[in-house]
Amino acid sequence: MSFLKHTPQFAKQDAIAILNDLYDIQATADALPSERDQNFRMSTPSKECFVLKIANALDDPALLDCQNQAMLHLNRQVTFCPKVVTNRNGEFISEIQSPTGATHKVRLVTYLPGVPMGSVQRRSSGLFEDLGRCVGEMDRAMTDFDHPAARRDFYWDLAKGLQIVKEYHPLIPNAHLRELIEKFAGYFEQSVTPLLPDLRKSVIHNDANDYNVILGGNGDLYTRNQRVVGIIDFGDMVFSHTVGNLAIAIAYAILDQSDPLRVAAHMIKGYHRPFALTQAEIAVLYPMVCMRLCMSACIAAHQLKERPDNEYLMISQMPIQRTLPRLTEIHPRFAETAFRQACDLSPLPHAQTICKWLDRNRITAASLLDIDLRTAPLKIFDLSVASSLVSGNPEKNKESHLTKKLWEKMQAAGVSVAIGRYNEARLIQTRFIGNIDSPTAEHRTVHIGMDVFAQPGATVYTPLAGKVYAFSNNEGSQNYGPVIILQHTTDSGDSFYTLYGNLSLDTLEGLTAGKSIAAGQQIGRIGSADENGNRTPHLHFQIITDLLDKDCDFPGVVRASEQHLWKLFSPDPNLVIGIPQDRFPAPDPSTSDTLAARRKYIGRNLSIGYRNPIKMMRGWRQYLFDDTGRRYLDAYNNVPHVGHCHPKVVAAASRQMSVLNTNTRYLHDFINRYAKRLCDTLPAPLSVCFFVNSASEGNELALRLARAYTGQRDMIVLEVAYHGHTTSLIDISPYKHNGPGGKGAPSWVHTAPIPDLYRGLYRSDDLQAALKYAGHIDDIIRELQDNGMGLAGFIAETCPSVAGQIFLPKGYLSAVYRRVHKAGGLCIADEVQTGYGRIGTHFYAFEAENLVPDIVVLGKPIGNGHPISAVITSPEIAEAFDNGMEFFSTFGGNAVSCAAGLAVLDAVIEENLQSNALKAGKRMLAGMIPFIDRFPIVGDVRGSGLFLGVELVRDRETLEPAREEADFIVNRMRDAGVLLGTDGPFENVIKIRPPMPFNESNAEFLVANMERILTEDFLV
Ligand SMILES: Cc1ncc(COP(=O)(O)O)c(C=O)c1O
Repeated sequence: MSFLKHTPQFAKQDAIAILNDLYDIQATADALPSERDQNFRMSTPSKECFVLKIANALDDPALLDCQNQAMLHLNRQVTFCPKVVTNRNGEFISEIQSPTGATHKVRLVTYLPGVPMGSVQRRSSGLFEDLGRCVGEMDRAMTDFDHPAARRDFYWDLAKGLQIVKEYHPLIPNAHLRELIEKFAGYFEQSVTPLLPDLRKSVIHNDANDYNVILGGNGDLYTRNQRVVGIIDFGDMVFSHTVGNLAIAIAYAILDQSDPLRVAAHMIKGYHRPFALTQAEIAVLYPMVCMRLCMSACIAAHQLKERPDNEYLMISQMPIQRTLPRLTEIHPRFAETAFRQACDLSPLPHAQTICKWLDRNRITAASLLDIDLRTAPLKIFDLSVASSLVSGNPEKNKESHLTKKLWEKMQAAGVSVAIGRYNEARLIQTRFIGNIDSPTAEHRTVHIGMDVFAQPGATVYTPLAGKVYAFSNNEGSQNYGPVIILQHTTDSGDSFYTLYGNLSLDTLEGLTAGKSIAAGQQIGRIGSADENGNRTPHLHFQIITDLLDKDCDFPGVVRASEQHLWKLFSPDPNLVIGIPQDRFPAPDPSTSDTLAARRKYIGRNLSIGYRNPIKMMRGWRQYLFDDTGRRYLDAYNNVPHVGHCHPKVVAAASRQMSVLNTNTRYLHDFINRYAKRLCDTLPAPLSVCFFVNSASEGNELALRLARAYTGQRDMIVLEVAYHGHTTSLIDISPYKHNGPGGKGAPSWVHTAPIPDLYRGLYRSDDLQAALKYAGHIDDIIRELQDNGMGLAGFIAETCPSVAGQIFLPKGYLSAVYRRVHKAGGLCIADEVQTGYGRIGTHFYAFEAENLVPDIVVLGKPIGNGHPISAVITSPEIAEAFDNGMEFFSTFGGNAVSCAAGLAVLDAVIEENLQSNALKAGKRMLAGMIPFIDRFPIVGDVRGSGLFLGVELVRDRETLEPAREEADFIVNRMRDAGVLLGTDGPFENVIKIRPPMPFNESNAEFLVANMERILTEDFLV
C-alpha cells in the first residue's frame, strides 16, 4: 500500500532528459503501464528501442541488482530476455532525484518488440508449447544462479500459498468461491505439502503472467506462427520451488480457455524437452496451478478490503473466478496422468500393473451371470453413433422403444444375453438435443464400461474376490440406478475397483461397506427399467484403476476428447469377462484410415471439406454427428431441405422401396400425384413435368427442351454460373469452363456480366444498374442477330449461389426475360438452390420478381437427399419436345422417388418451413449486418431467408477478396461445431444455406460464433 505513495511521477520530457543525461542516448518517450514504478519505452532515431525503468522509491536496491544479475545471467543462455544496458559510467543502476526530493533508482533494458500474450485472444497450441519451452529454458539456465535478495519472504511465493490462502480466504465475499478455495486448500495440505521437501528449488522469475509474456510471429493465418519473443518483468523473483515457475505460467495461460488441461499439457510438453520435470514435480504441478489462482483471489480480496474502490482489481479477478470452479472439476490425479503423458512417461503406471494382473487371472475369474459369458452364445450390439438400433430422434431411443428393438434382436439371434461394447461412442447416453446455449458443446459420449443385457432379475456375481467399497442408488435418467463398487487388491498390493450399475433396488438392502465378497458370490440382480434409471435392463460393468474420489459418481461415459486418458482409469472390462476377441466385430476404420482409403480409391478432384476433415455418421434435422458423437449445427447443406433423415421422408421412401420400385413404363399413381402437386406450386402455364435423377440431368433436359422448341442452339448465361457437371453443362457454366482446368466457353455460349451490386460492373449506388446489366443481354442478342444466328434461351439461377449468394437487382430478370422472348428464346429458371421456400418470402425465388419462366428446373432439396430432379414446362414446349424421339430415364420418376418427393412437399408445407426460413434468416441478418460497421473485413452481408452470404474483403476501396480469411473463418466455425462453406469467384463469400428447420436460436448461435471469430485478433 505505502508503495503506491512512492511511485515515481516523471513526465515524458523528464524521461527523455534522464536518458540523455545518464546514457547519452537521444530518444522519444512513451509511457508504459505500471502501478508502483514507472516505465517508458524510449525509441531512438535509428529505431533502437529501450525501456527506461524508474523504480519506486521504496524498492530494495539489492532486489534491483538481483533482477539485473538474473537478466545478465539469462542473456548468456536464452534469447527471450531483455538485455541490461549500462549508463555512461558503466553502471547498471543510476540514481535520480524527484522534484519532491525522493531518490529513485533508474535502469535501462532493451525493449523486446511484440505484443503481450494477454492482449492476444487466439492462442495456437504451438504457442503454448513454445511458452513452456521458454519457461523450461529459463529454469534450466537459472539452476546455477543465486542472489541473496532472492531469498526473501514474499507473499507471492507459491511456497507460502497455503499460509496466504488460510489467512485471507475468509475475506472472499463470494461464498461459493470461498468454499472451493477451502476445499482446495484442504487437498493441498493433505496431498501436496508432504511432497514439497522433494522438489528442486532455485531462483525463479515467479510471474510469467500473460502480460509478461511477449509474442511475435506473423504470416500463416491459422497459427500466425505465434512464438514467445520475450519474458519480461523480473520484479517478483524469489528463491522457491523451481516447478512453481511453470505452475504460474500455466495458471495464467489457462484462464478462460475452453480446455485448460490441453493447454497445460502443451506447455508441459514444451517445458519438459529442455528441462525434464521430475515425477514429484509433475505430481504437484496441477495443485500448484490451482493454488496460484487461489492465492491471487485471496490477495485480491485482501487488497480490495484496503482499497474497496479499486475497480480494476475486481475486473482483473473475473477470469480467475470463472476458471477456478472449472479447474476444481478436474481431479489432480487425472491432470497428473495427462501431464505424465505429455512428458512421454508411463501415464498411469499402476493401471498397467493392474491390467497385467487381471490378464493373468482372467481364466480363474468367475462369470458375471449364471451362464459363462466366455462360451455362451451372445449377441454383440452395435450402439455406436451410426447404429441402426438407434434413432436420430432422441424420443425414439427412450424406454421402451430401444428395449423392444434390443429384445427383438436377441430373440432373433436365439440368445438370452447380449453385450454393449466398451470404448464405443454413443448418442443414446448423451443429452445431445436441446441445449440451446451451446448446441455443439462436447458431451460425454464414449462408453467406458461393458453392458451385459439380460432379463431383469438375472443374478449378478462378482468375478473377483473383494469387499464392498461403496454403494448408492443413483437415480435419474441415464444414471446407474442402484450401483455397487467393490474394492480388490492385486498380489502386489495395488487396489482397484469393479463397478456394477443398473442393478435391482433390493440388491442394496443389507449391504455394508467393507463387507467381504468371495469370487463367484452373488452381489445382486439386474434391475428393471423402472428401478435402473429407465434403461433397457442390463448390468453396467466397469473396471476402475483409480476412483479419483468420485466413488459411485465415477463416470461410465466420458468425453471423446479425454477418451485416451479415461481408458487408463477404466480399462477394458473384457479383461475380467473374457469373451473371446474374435466374437467382437472388427472396429470401424479411424478417421485417418477412412481418409487414406478415400485418397486411394476415390478420384482426387472430389474435394473434402475442411482442413480437419469430419467423418460424419448421422444426421438429424439441422444437426450432423461425427464418429465421436460430436454434434454439428449444419448451416450449409441445402439438400436435406426438411432436415436430415426426416422421419416422414425416410418412412415414405422405405415403405415404397419394400413394395415396388420399377421404371415409369408402367402406370403408377405416385408419379401423377407428385407431378400434379408440383404443378400446383407453380404458375400457369407450367403444368407438364419430366423427372430425372439429378439437377445436372434436369438442366441438360431443359437445354434439350429449349432447343427442340426454338430450333436454335445458342444460350446466354451469367458469369460465374454453375448448372451441373455434364459436358454440355460445363459448357454453360463459366464457373467451371473459366475456372481451373477449364477450356473456356464454346462458340454457342454467350456470357453476360453477373449483376452483382457489390463488386460487379454497376453497383448498388447506381439506380439504373438493373437496366444497364440487361443492356448487355441486348448486346449479345444484337451480335447474334448481326451474325444471322438465333437464340435457344437464357438460363440463370434466380439468385446465383456459386457466384457468391447474389441477389439480382430488382427488375433485372424481367427485363432480360422480355429481351430473350423478343429474340425468340426461352427462359430457364434454375431453382435448384432457391426453390421450396428457401428465400423465405416466396416458395420460388422467381416469384419475387413476378416472373413466369418457360422452364423451371428443381433438384437437390426436393428429394431431401433422395436423387430426384424435376423439369416443369408448358404444354406447348413439352409438345415441341415430343418430336418422335422417346424420352426415358431409367430411374427418373420411379415410385420410390415420387414417394420421397411427395413427403418432402408435405413436410415443407405442414411444418411451415418457408416462414421459419424467413424468421431465422431475419435473425441472422439482424445479427450480421452490423458486422459491416464493426469489422473492416466484412464488406457485405446479403440474402433472404436461409440463403445468405457474407462477403469478406481486405480493402473496402479495391474490394480485394479476403479468400484465405473466409476459409479461416469457415474452418474456425467448423471447430466451433457450425458447418459453413465458401463460394463466389474468389471463394471469399461465406455461404449460409442450412436445412430449413434451422431455427432462430440456431441463428443466434451462428451469429455469436462468427462474431467471436471475427473479434479474434487474427483477422484484425
Ligand atoms: C444451381 C445448380 N444447378 C445445378 C446443379 C447440379 O446439381 P447436381 O449435382 O444434383 O447434378 C447444382 C449443383 O451444385 C447447382 O448448384
